[in-house]
Amino acid sequence: MEVLVTGGTGFIGEALVPALLDEGHSVTVLTRQSHPSPIAQARFIQELSELSESETPIDVVINLAGASLAAKRWNTEYKKKMVDSRVVLTQRLGEYFRSVKKRPAIWVNASAIGFYGPRNDEALTESADTGEGFAAQLCRDWESAAAEAAGDARLCLMRLGVVLDKSDGAYPQMAQPFKMGVANWIGDGQQWLSWVHRDDVVAAFCHAIESSDLRGPVNVTAPHPVTSRDFCEAMRKVHRTLLAVPMPGFVMRAMVGEMADELLITGQKVVPQALEASGFAFNHPEIDVALAAIEA
Ligand SMILES: NC(=O)c1ccc[n+]([C@@H]2O[C@H](COP(=O)([O-])OP(=O)(O)OC[C@H]3O[C@@H](n4cnc5c(N)ncnc54)[C@H](OP(=O)(O)O)[C@@H]3O)[C@@H](O)[C@H]2O)c1
Repeated sequence: MEVLVTGGTGFIGEALVPALLDEGHSVTVLTRQSHPSPIAQARFIQELSELSESETPIDVVINLAGASLAAKRWNTEYKKKMVDSRVVLTQRLGEYFRSVKKRPAIWVNASAIGFYGPRNDEALTESADTGEGFAAQLCRDWESAAAEAAGDARLCLMRLGVVLDKSDGAYPQMAQPFKMGVANWIGDGQQWLSWVHRDDVVAAFCHAIESSDLRGPVNVTAPHPVTSRDFCEAMRKVHRTLLAVPMPGFVMRAMVGEMADELLITGQKVVPQALEASGFAFNHPEIDVALAAIEA
């Protein structure tokens, strides 16, 4: 199939695009970059209008692009950037595809478990209510924009957990103190961390393309979420860290501001009900297995 990927140059995209090519798809990556690093046979474009030059219509849209939530303090200006880079781009995609003769039949859009907001111990399936806070609002707005843009396409809203792999994303930062010999959980350590190995994210996106019955919100998190303390214990085993020094919530809040309250001191216990019901099998269902694979 002809697949258009936005954000294909990022942490998830750099693994997903080669996997799509391996599956026999033709891949076009929409990027802001004038000289992106080549990825095998993928074609790069900077404007949607470049698609019109090709005779072959797009069958599948994979929409990943967006300014990172963890890169900067959440001031008003950066909040606008996080919203616009997702919502406005998604609206532009919608406008473009409304103007072409043959519209995509499948639309796989990234979202995040931030949709559920900070929560306690309840297990959250895709039918759980949305929560409070900036991240939850951003996810709602992005999901609504995707629903509008996708039109009649089969739409999967991939609510991603914390994606782990060695090269980038959250893991290198999380691993740093453990590598230095000082383990730390954040706050009281009871908050849930719904993580997922990047290989399983890539497989879940490919599965979403293939599974004609899968639609709507899809939690993309490993079936065994852990508390921050459990994650810390698993990391200590892998890195052979001896000393355990928790990081108080107020220190984290002073360091990174509002982001700490939504992404670090709080969490949510998310379960991948839709994926599992559709027959998806995780390669890395348990944190010990996933961390061992990452550090192998
Ligand atoms: N990684 C995670 O743990 C995680 C968890 C939950 C949700 N997600 C979501 O999944 C998506 C992909 O994640 P990722 O980790 O691969 O992200 P990433 O590495 O930060 O890459 C995102 C891509 O989005 C594009 N982008 C960045 N800033 C932009 C801006 N201001 N305007 C327009 N495009 C911009 C870039 O592509 P170009 O430079 O090619 O334009 C970039 O390569 C993101 O939207 C993210 O929020 C990720």
